[in-house]
Amino acid sequence: MSFTFNFPDPENSENAVQEEKQEKEDEGDEIDHVEQFREIFTSEAVQATDLPTFSYEMSDCVCIKCVDSQAVETRLCDEQRFTCGVTAAANQHSDLIPNVYEGGLKVWECALDLAEYLCKSTVHFKNKNVLELGCGAGIPAILALLNGASSVHFQDYNYEVIESYTIPNVMLNVPEKNTCTCRYFSGDWDSFRNHMSNQNIQYDVILSAETIYKPENYKKLTAIFEHFLSQDGEIYVAAKSNYFGVGGGTRDFESFVLKAGKFNVETCHTVETGVPREIMKLTRR
Ligand SMILES: C[S@@+](CC[C@H](N)C(=O)[O-])C[C@H]1O[C@@H](n2cnc3c(N)ncnc32)[C@H](O)[C@@H]1O
Repeated sequence: MSFTFNFPDPENSENAVQEEKQEKEDEGDEIDHVEQFREIFTSEAVQATDLPTFSYEMSDCVCIKCVDSQAVETRLCDEQRFTCGVTAAANQHSDLIPNVYEGGLKVWECALDLAEYLCKSTVHFKNKNVLELGCGAGIPAILALLNGASSVHFQDYNYEVIESYTIPNVMLNVPEKNTCTCRYFSGDWDSFRNHMSNQNIQYDVILSAETIYKPENYKKLTAIFEHFLSQDGEIYVAAKSNYFGVGGGTRDFESFVLKAGKFNVETCHTVETGVPREIMKLTRR
């Protein structure tokens, strides 16, 4: 499995976005489309028990199972029941189409970094409320569930990722005697903040991996941090130092957060590779 941040050919991606805008204009919709908030219930999840799975060993005693994302993608394309972000990206052989499909149907490197780090660290999940933003497969959040979190909320941009991939992954790993409450949300971060604001929710731990590649989204993402993190809560953001071609990266994000003045930022883990990867911890100032 390739882990390069395979950003789309800008020309093709631009075409896809233009096509989508044209369709929306023809339909009389707003042209600056972003996915709107939706809560997805486990009863709506697509059955995936017949699909192949992968096992990710997080430590000597923790192993997390995941449905094969390629098989999910093939099924979504074969069904041709509807076109969605995932099928649009598959047709273009692209990992990401801005505002259409944001890359959730795949396990990215930093999600595994974060899960491994959480396994070895002293981060406590027992009786905690946890949110994973931009969860995709949801591996870090599943780890929180396995470690005694009282609630875990999974959020991804694309609802088809949640119903065909995230929920089936949770089902594969959930213990028989589960007491953790899981909820699932899709849509743009702004719509998540707007819709959840009236629910009086505070998270003790917020997790996010490979979500800071677009600097123009930093405001939306950190607005969720500000609004929903409990007073002594912790945020763990795992990302690459640089997302070439799009401008984002760990230093860029750190500067943005420090400039806004609401959070302290500390690098708690670094993986030295060609493009270094990091885990940053944010706490309220
Ligand atoms: C590259 S994927 C990473 C998926 C997963 N965290 C991993 O590391 O394997 C980026 C994720 O960020 C989320 N994302 C990006 N932009 C978003 C936006 N504007 N609103 C909500 N989610 C967004 C998407 O849900 C997507 O799954």
